[in-house]
Formats: sequence, C-alpha cells, structure tokens
Amino acid sequence: MLSINIKNNMTELKHIPVLLNETVNMLNVMPGRVYVDGTIGSGGFSKEILRRSVPDGFLIGIDRDEDAVKNVQIELEKEFDKKRFKLFYSNFSKIDNIIRELGFKNVDGIVLDLGISSIQLEGNRGFSFKEEGGLDMRMDKGEQLTAYEVVNNYPEKILADIIWKYGDERYSRKIAKKIVESRKNKQIETPLELSAIIKKAVFKGSGKLKIDPATKTFMALRIFVNKEYDSLIEFLGTLKNILNAGGIVAIISFHSGEDRIVKNFFKNNLSFKSLSKKPISPLNEEIKFNPRSRSAKLRAFCYV
Ligand SMILES: C[S@@+](CC[C@H](N)C(=O)[O-])C[C@H]1O[C@@H](n2cnc3c(N)ncnc32)[C@H](O)[C@@H]1O
Repeated sequence: MLSINIKNNMTELKHIPVLLNETVNMLNVMPGRVYVDGTIGSGGFSKEILRRSVPDGFLIGIDRDEDAVKNVQIELEKEFDKKRFKLFYSNFSKIDNIIRELGFKNVDGIVLDLGISSIQLEGNRGFSFKEEGGLDMRMDKGEQLTAYEVVNNYPEKILADIIWKYGDERYSRKIAKKIVESRKNKQIETPLELSAIIKKAVFKGSGKLKIDPATKTFMALRIFVNKEYDSLIEFLGTLKNILNAGGIVAIISFHSGEDRIVKNFFKNNLSFKSLSKKPISPLNEEIKFNPRSRSAKLRAFCYV
C-alpha cells in the first residue's frame, strides 16, 4: 500500500513493508552475522535486520532499481554506521558474485520480497494501468526492453502467450488480437490507452468488476519485461553455494507463478528444511491496513 507524507509541501511516496516481522523473525537475526536483503525497495527489511543485529551484524543490500539503492543508502546512513552495510545496484540473480566481491564465502540469511514497490507502482513508470505516462515497466532503467516495444511490435501469437503464461489471463487471445488491431491505426503510447483496449476486448457489460480487466495483462507484461522468473530461478540455483550451514532463506511472493517456482524448487530438496508447514500469509489486520499484502505468501527454508 502507499502512504503519503506531506513534508514541506512536497508529496513523498512510501512503501509499507509486507509481513515484516514474520519474515525477519524467520531469519533469526543475530549480531555478528551476515545477511542479504536482495530486494531493498524502500529499505524496510534492511533497517529491521540492521536493528536486530546491533552492534556488528553486516547487511548486503541489492536492488535492480538504481533510485531505490540511492535513496536507501541515504536513509540507512541516518541510522546506522556505514561500515555495517553495503548496497548494490544489481540483480539478485548475481548474489554469488556480489558476496564474493565483498570477500565473504557464505552468508547467514537472505530475504527476497518479490515484485515491485509502491513507489515504483505510483512513480509514473508504466506499471499502473491508471497512468498517462509512458509504457515503460522496467525496474532497471539500464535494461533495453520496455513494455512499449512488446505491446507495439511483438506478433499477436507471442503477445497472447506472454499474457497467458505470466498473467493466467483466460482472455489472452482476445486481448492480443485487440492490441494488434488497435496498433494498426496508432501506436499504443500510454498505460491508460492500453487498459482501455484491454477493457474493450474482454468486457461487454456495464456491471461492476471485482478487479480491473487490465490487471492480469499488466502483471504479465511486467514479469516478461523484467524477466522476473529467470532471475528467481537463477537465484535459487546459487543458494547451496552461498548459504552457511544453518543459514536461512525467506521469500515473499505475490502471485501463484512465482510461488510455484519457489515451492517446486524446495520440494523434495533434501538440502533444505522448510521452517513452516504451510506458507505464511498476512493476518486480517495487516490486510486491512495494507491491502497490497493480501496476496503475499512467505516461505522460509533452512540450509541443513
Ligand atoms: C516489494 S519491493 C521490496 C520492498 C522492501 N522489502 C521494503 O521493505 O521496502 C521489491 C523491490 O525488489 C526489486 N527487485 C525486483 N526484482 C529484483 C531483482 N531480480 N533483483 C534485484 N532487485 C529486484 C524492485 O526493484 C523493488 O525495489
């Protein structure tokens, strides 16, 4: 969820961390240990790890959004000794290189809080279907591929496959067809234009809808543009090389596709023991306070 602070007449966007206590409790944070926050976002988890590992716990923070890294660097410096953390503008799939670059062989705990932050969602970067801005959707502005390129240039069949595979959208073919028809007249420039086209493809009635008809297509495009599944799979493949014995990895996912990747990786993997019988979901109070948390699932595992 987004909370807005009005400071000196400036509007400041904030991201409210999801399942914060549950996740950091799982990591069993202690002084003298080394932790990785692979998705620093606004730094909610990073701060909590640094607080709980006073005086000498060390935090390695990673985010593929350069602005997030710069902002969290400033925030952390206000509260913590600079010697206790090091942040990287990078992909968490490169976690093993980053750890080695710092001279560590292994770490004691890793957290991933997947997806995008409220700041990215509301930042006029094309993630929200309510925006007038550009169709971008890159978390990392250093990458080439944008949603604009996919929506305006990809063949209909591939578009339909993307929307089906990453969005579980049953109207994927209809939506892809409508997108291709529309772009023959005029390139699709903004999220608002795209969501109007999707609505036309799938929604004939006038009743009230539970979710916006563009929700799944936007999610699918975001996952595809940012190769989110590939990063997660690559990350999971490095775990055995970077966790100490007894080290813990905690992963929060927000939709079934990424949760399935996590679940299947650890299923029957004798090197890891699950720390809870079922994935942990937010309590009703958290969902009421922060509706964005409602689809969150936390899974944590110990390297044995
Ligand atoms: C849900 S937010 C994390 C919020 C954070 N836990 C907090 O308390 O503020 C997800 C963040 O992960 C970053 N991210 C997503 N995929 C990533 C990846 N493969 N590598 C590095 N960062 C990634 C996004 O840029 C975003 O800032």
